Amino acid sequence: MDSLYVLTLCSSFLCFFSEISIAADTLTASQSISGNQTLISEGGCFELGFFSPGNSKNRYLGIWYNRIPGRTVVWVANRENPLTNSSGTLKIDNKDSIVLVNQTESVIWSSNSSKAVENPVVQLLESGNLVLREGKNGNSESYLWQSFDYPSDTLLPGMKLGWDLKMGLNRRLTSWKNFDDPSPGSLTYGIENKGYPEEVIRKGMNKSYRSGPWNGLRFSGATELKPNPVFRFRFISNEDEVYYTYEPDNKSIITRLVLNETTDNGLRQRFTWSESSNGWRIFLSVPKDRCDKYKYCGAYGTCDEDETPICRCLKGFKPRFLGAWSSVDWSDGCTHKVSLDCKKGDGFSRFKGLKPPDTTEAWANNSMSLRECERECLKNCSCMAYTNSDISERGSGCAMWFGDLIDIRQISGAGQDLYIRMAASELGKSSLSFYSISYLIPKKLDLSLIRLAD
Ligand SMILES: *[C@@H]1O[C@H](CO)[C@@H](O)[C@H](O)[C@H]1NC(C)=O
Ligand SMILES: *[C@@H]1O[C@H](CO)[C@@H](O)[C@H](O)[C@H]1NC(C)=O
Ligand SMILES: *[C@@H]1O[C@H](CO)[C@@H](O)[C@H](O)[C@H]1NC(C)=O
Ligand SMILES: *[C@@H]1O[C@H](CO)[C@@H](O)[C@H](O)[C@H]1NC(C)=O
Ligand SMILES: *[C@@H]1O[C@H](CO)[C@@H](O)[C@H](O)[C@H]1NC(C)=O
Ligand SMILES: *[C@@H]1O[C@H](CO)[C@@H](O)[C@H](O)[C@H]1NC(C)=O
Ligand SMILES: *[C@@H]1O[C@H](CO)[C@@H](O)[C@H](O)[C@H]1NC(C)=O
Ligand SMILES: *[C@@H]1O[C@H](CO)[C@@H](O)[C@H](O)[C@H]1NC(C)=O
Ligand SMILES: *[C@@H]1O[C@H](CO)[C@@H](O)[C@H](O)[C@H]1NC(C)=O
Repeated sequence: MDSLYVLTLCSSFLCFFSEISIAADTLTASQSISGNQTLISEGGCFELGFFSPGNSKNRYLGIWYNRIPGRTVVWVANRENPLTNSSGTLKIDNKDSIVLVNQTESVIWSSNSSKAVENPVVQLLESGNLVLREGKNGNSESYLWQSFDYPSDTLLPGMKLGWDLKMGLNRRLTSWKNFDDPSPGSLTYGIENKGYPEEVIRKGMNKSYRSGPWNGLRFSGATELKPNPVFRFRFISNEDEVYYTYEPDNKSIITRLVLNETTDNGLRQRFTWSESSNGWRIFLSVPKDRCDKYKYCGAYGTCDEDETPICRCLKGFKPRFLGAWSSVDWSDGCTHKVSLDCKKGDGFSRFKGLKPPDTTEAWANNSMSLRECERECLKNCSCMAYTNSDISERGSGCAMWFGDLIDIRQISGAGQDLYIRMAASELGKSSLSFYSISYLIPKKLDLSLIRLAD
């Protein structure tokens, strides 16, 4: 075991030393890198160069951790257009872009920007950001282009996940196809901003997971997102930008967020580097359970991992199709027991401890009170629910949902209130809080059956 360990360490060191790197983090207009040459960031955290992933023979230009064995790639330039049967050269072109060309000078990949500068330089920053900037004014942070704006599958500390509304830029992660192929896989992870922003993971067009909207403290369904010793997070939403970002709590902590298609251990994983075990450890991953699966209990269904069955209709709702529901196919969801009659007058029932529903058809205004929110929601017959858009302090702002309420779950301890539209006759009833087939089969019987089976 020990000798094997020493062997791998040695071979990875040999590998490092046989590579000729330009001991610099910057390229000027007259310089280039090719073959085994690399750029290394000033403090030695990251390295940029050419590599072949897994068993692939294709060559890619990428960025990886310089000091971590095993080459963990965090960014790839030419994901969709590998160098085949040829080596590449990276250089500055035309004073306004970074280009990767193959041996016959065909452009394989290029950054593009709208301005040119007199003395452009390409620099690999200590954060892992590859930037194109004016070389004259030292460390100016106004970049013509930066790789942080075009993420691959990894969100590094300081990167923004989300929107630059002025530039019309949406920064989101896309998984690799597989270990050997960094071309875009089927998963994407980003901020969807239809009026009440939330994080969404999609597989193709379909949603697989949503975090729930930002509620002032965290993404409302992401209970794992709380103060912790590894990283600090922020969510910014204003006229110019809507994004999520994080920083390690201590600069010596190495952590990354990855969208991973080829795993049964969560789609989005946060890894931290463990010095003692010389390997990556998963710190958090989502989806964390069945209730995190998008729309698992259908419309007006609520998911509770601690209950059997885990899907139930909200109080005042019944299964849309009882047959399917009883045979644990919950996808059709639930419907009001007593139909709404907006003209005659509906009202709202308060539901506690929920992850608020999908916000595709939602709207939020942070300066409205809960009272105003109720009044506005009541006025519009397609407004199905409302609540405070921000729950920090004593709660403020207004969020409203139009259309069916989808992807609700029960969150004990950290859930939110949601006021749902109900027929007048249903208001103030103190019946069972849920409709569920478990009321037809008493739970105790369930348990004893399980014991018998044992
Ligand atoms: C790159 O390094 C490998 C060994 O690590 C060597 O076989 C190869 O010839 C080098 N290529 C160039 C272009 O220097
Ligand atoms: C690819 O590489 C092989 C072996 O080096 C060479 O024989 C062939 O001509 C190359 N093909 C192209 C298109 O460059
Ligand atoms: C360079 O790329 C062009 C366009 O993709 C291709 O036609 C050409 O064969 C490539 N050259 C080499 C040496 O691979
Ligand atoms: C950069 O390239 C993309 C895709 O080719 C294009 O849609 C975009 O307009 C370009 N941006 C600039 C600033 O040239
Ligand atoms: C999206 O959902 C539809 C309907 O459930 C399904 O047929 C399709 O295969 C899904 N697409 C992906 C990429 O999973
Ligand atoms: C950061 O972590 C290092 C190594 O674990 C430790 O020595 C240092 O005291 C920590 N710094 C702070 C501010 O916690
Ligand atoms: C994806 O997950 C698998 C299995 O958990 C792991 O081996 C692999 O390293 C992960 N990929 C990335 C890019 O972290
Ligand atoms: C939000 O609500 C306030 C108070 O009702 C109103 O003045 C403002 O115009 C609203 N903002 C938007 C964007 O609708
Ligand atoms: C109700 O709200 C929806 C969504 O904002 C809007 O499209 C519709 O026009 C509103 N209806 C009325 C009567 O205000």
